[in-house]
Amino acid sequence: MSKAHFGLIGLGVMGENLVLNAERNGFSSVVFNRTYSKTQEFLNGRGAGKSITGARDLQEFVDKLERPRRILMMIKAGPSTDAVIDQISPYLLEGDLLIDGGNSEFRDTERRVSSLESKSFGYIGMGVSGGAKGALEGPSMMPGGTKASYEAVESLLCKMAAQVEDGPCVTYIGPGGSGHFVKTVHNGIEYGIEQILAEAYDLMKRVAGMNGDEISNVFEFWNKTEELCSYLVEITAACMRQKDEINGGDLVEKIMDKAGQKGTGLWTVISALELGASVPTIYASLNGRVMSSMKSQRINAEKILSRPLIKPFDLGSKSDGMSPLMDAVILATIASYAQGMELMRIASDEYNYNLNMPSIAQIWKGGCIIRSRLLRRIQNAFDNDPRLPNLLLDPWFAEQVNRRLPNLTKVVAGAANAGIPIPCLSSTLDYINSYRTSRLPQNLVQAMRDCFGSHTYERVDIKGTFHTDWI
Ligand code: 6PG
Repeated sequence: MSKAHFGLIGLGVMGENLVLNAERNGFSSVVFNRTYSKTQEFLNGRGAGKSITGARDLQEFVDKLERPRRILMMIKAGPSTDAVIDQISPYLLEGDLLIDGGNSEFRDTERRVSSLESKSFGYIGMGVSGGAKGALEGPSMMPGGTKASYEAVESLLCKMAAQVEDGPCVTYIGPGGSGHFVKTVHNGIEYGIEQILAEAYDLMKRVAGMNGDEISNVFEFWNKTEELCSYLVEITAACMRQKDEINGGDLVEKIMDKAGQKGTGLWTVISALELGASVPTIYASLNGRVMSSMKSQRINAEKILSRPLIKPFDLGSKSDGMSPLMDAVILATIASYAQGMELMRIASDEYNYNLNMPSIAQIWKGGCIIRSRLLRRIQNAFDNDPRLPNLLLDPWFAEQVNRRLPNLTKVVAGAANAGIPIPCLSSTLDYINSYRTSRLPQNLVQAMRDCFGSHTYERVDIKGTFHTDWI
């Protein structure tokens, strides 16, 4: 019997869909799962009638694979990944390749890459985005490791990936944990955009008194524009239109307002803090989830802390897509991408990842959760200047900021007066205002630091380091 081209460990939804994707693209496969009953269930169900076989144990699994072996692990990130690596390592030979396609913390991947480099087989840490549907139909993939390891799986990954006008949504990201780092930042941007759209919904509901269908229409309108056409806006329109089959009305209104998280948004913010990158819009989205989870405290606080009555303000008309609000949403979305791209640029220098910014924008144009038409502009901006310090400085994006900032300001001010929290929109306004201010008040912070701690300061008019006896 001829040997299989591709092996998969871990038959969760993502694993199942990725192996079906590989098989559909001509790569016969063998699958292994911790519990064999799950493997049987898959082979008798979705995997039936396809070039996919199962293995009861790892010996059988590796024996069924052609050499060099190409093995994808789709398992829960964390200790389970280390456990599977330990179990499979003794069976792997020179040239074989192990890929971790889970949402692993990039430092775990760094550690695994350096410890496995001493063994003869290759190891790739690969971010995979697109959810279950993307995994089946074509995800965006962010593989990191050695170039030689990537080249060994390039043909497989290029066939499995989503395809856009300028190629497949996969590229070699860089060494070590860079693939998982880029996926982490992708998710930070994902958190940002999700929160921005939730804030827009809240304003349309509470200030303009709109119902689910009316709000859905606005998201559909936005999805037809160059600036906002995206997967997340498209699904938001669908979520807003969904009715509750149990009790009627808009289903969204029946959902508990507590957002969970699996860690990647947090890791983005931790990395940004460590690297001195400014990501306030992304941080605000993370904190939005944290605040949302404090439900019982919020119920209590609402009774104790008085807040202003909701005063209506101009969010625009439904027929022109609530244009002031749309401007605010566009700028916050741009800020999320700008902050994520800047974080990657800084990390690339710090960790010697040598990230190719236009290529990253290119592979995010299809398959992934943050795919959007804006990414074409982002790709162009970094094609024109690969060392662009901040997306907002690119002429096309600068024009967007200059044109739309008055409306972002109006929306933030209106929401502040109405007592409606809009953490991402207001952080974006502060971010842009800080970024476009050549003199900030941190001169006084420096004075205080020198006053109590003799931390010294620089002057704007004379070179050198100064200290003053302030009191
Ligand atoms: C993707 C997603 C996915 C992520 C979920 C959940 O790109 O397909 O980013 O990998 O796991 O979106 O993330 P949270 O549970 O942290 O929101």
